[in-house]
Amino acid sequence: CGIVGYIGNEDAKEVLLRGLEKLEYRGYDSAGIALVNNEGVHVFKEKGRIAALRGVVDTTVEGTVGIGHTRWATHGVPSRVNAHPHQSETARFTLVHNGVIENYEQLKREYLSNVEFQSDTDTEVIVQLVEQFVEAGKSVEAAFSQTLSLLKGSYATALLDKQNKDLVYVGKNKSPLLIGLSDGANVIASDAMAVLQVTNQFVEIVDQEVVLVSRDNVTIKKLDGTVVTREPFTAELDASDIEKGTYPHFMLKEIDEQPFVIRNIVQKYRNDDGSVRLDDSIRQAMSAADRVYIIAAGTSYHAGLVGKQLIEKIAQKPVEVHIASEFLYNMPLLSENPLFIFISQSGETADLRGVLVEVKEQGYPTLTITNVPGSTLSREADFTLHTYAGPEIAVASTKAYTAQMAVLTLLAVNTASARGIELDFDPIQELGIVASAMETLCDQKEELEQIARDYLATTPNCFFIGRAADYFVCLEGSLKLKEISYIQAEGFAGGELKHGTIALIEDGTPVIAIATQSHVNLSIRGNVKEVAARGANTCIISMEGLEQEGDSLVLPKVHEYLTSLTTVIPLQLISYYAALHRDCDVDKPRNLAKSVTVE
Ligand code: G6P
Repeated sequence: CGIVGYIGNEDAKEVLLRGLEKLEYRGYDSAGIALVNNEGVHVFKEKGRIAALRGVVDTTVEGTVGIGHTRWATHGVPSRVNAHPHQSETARFTLVHNGVIENYEQLKREYLSNVEFQSDTDTEVIVQLVEQFVEAGKSVEAAFSQTLSLLKGSYATALLDKQNKDLVYVGKNKSPLLIGLSDGANVIASDAMAVLQVTNQFVEIVDQEVVLVSRDNVTIKKLDGTVVTREPFTAELDASDIEKGTYPHFMLKEIDEQPFVIRNIVQKYRNDDGSVRLDDSIRQAMSAADRVYIIAAGTSYHAGLVGKQLIEKIAQKPVEVHIASEFLYNMPLLSENPLFIFISQSGETADLRGVLVEVKEQGYPTLTITNVPGSTLSREADFTLHTYAGPEIAVASTKAYTAQMAVLTLLAVNTASARGIELDFDPIQELGIVASAMETLCDQKEELEQIARDYLATTPNCFFIGRAADYFVCLEGSLKLKEISYIQAEGFAGGELKHGTIALIEDGTPVIAIATQSHVNLSIRGNVKEVAARGANTCIISMEGLEQEGDSLVLPKVHEYLTSLTTVIPLQLISYYAALHRDCDVDKPRNLAKSVTVE
């Protein structure tokens, strides 16, 4: 979910609505805003996108203080009633919340048995508790702090009191939230991007702090009332980075940006002598570790699988890759000196943060690889590597994935050099070749659109098969297709398909096979024959030097360690065109959110 707030001298409506549009990537099943003015508080909510919310906002109502929310449902179906803001029983207090309150049922029973709830959300307990404590005689600030101290779980929250137009109360635990500073106005946002039109000066809030935000003042306190001072920082974001320009969709723009991103990463991490430059502390941490544990989710997990291969092959260091949401429930036996690497585009994924907090507590070193340097995972890990891909707006990740793999390559190379391992290839040069190959592939949109039309226009399902590194990219290709076209897709290791899943192959079932690895070229082609013999509509994507007659696409040759960076491009584009043909919302697929800040 995404939160935005404004207190200043202008009408808050447009700042809130525009802010929410920028935050839609965090969830978009319902949205709402609240404005306070002399007549009281005015709440507008609607199911669906911000565009739908705009339709119900009364444009004649103005207020110089307000809060807004765009939701990704956890407790309670997406609906107008469950949309935020939520109000207390007398409607004195109005609140937005991002996160999950784990003990909300217990709090309801203990403190709120006489309150009639209006929604099915966990959020409503927060606002009702504040009102209860105020009615019992506490000041609003004390009631808010007391409420927050009772909450178990995650929250970023902002509260309005209709009796006080000069203050917004803000609190945070685990979920991200920033305060933006401007002249005569201050803003609140889950992500700096949302309020760049107001300011680029921000103050971080730390977990379990309460912030009192007025027009010209921001007071940060711990829950016990101690005042905290903290310097603001400048968000290094360019407003034009978050516009799609002439592109019809952010996803297409972000796919096309990949060659630039790879060159940019090389520039950032390259020494004048052509070697790879990383912080000494990271180099030492990698050298000291006897085993690396990569923790990630979704697309970043797929980058982690490739990262394992890169680090094991190039730096000869053992690596395990784990799904973040499973790790704590199913802990592997750890080595003596582990290093934990968290891969996350957003740097906010709650499943990863749960692991980070736990392993830090156990005293293990941690490194975050992220696209958002000031993000929670980046702040809280010992070390950070930035992927320099620029803001990724489309919910389906593209450039962040290739950027993660490029950074993992450089990390592997740097570790190899620290360990005195001689490489037989020049990684900087090879990544340059990758960038050019990506360019070639991005220019083949017409062919890829045709493949999407031929194979995916009407099918209910699709399989991707590959062996070795190609298998990992099959997992990512199938995830891309599922996410944005809603075609049921599965990525399979070529040799494993016959052990059960082949039962699903029927006349015309599309099977996209990847063949970029010389040592498995013949065996994967064997697997293609097996499915073709059972009626599958097969499409082979191969690489120069390995191609055979009838292949649907031949990729430009790149180093065998780096094939995933280029192979994924046609898979991203095929998914994009399949989604277009099926009239799907490419940038904001149903049920998803880009940054999932709940566990
Ligand atoms: C969400 C997104 C996925 C993403 C995953 C991990 O589920 O929809 O596209 O891969 O989170 O996100 P992260 O920001 O941690 O890489």
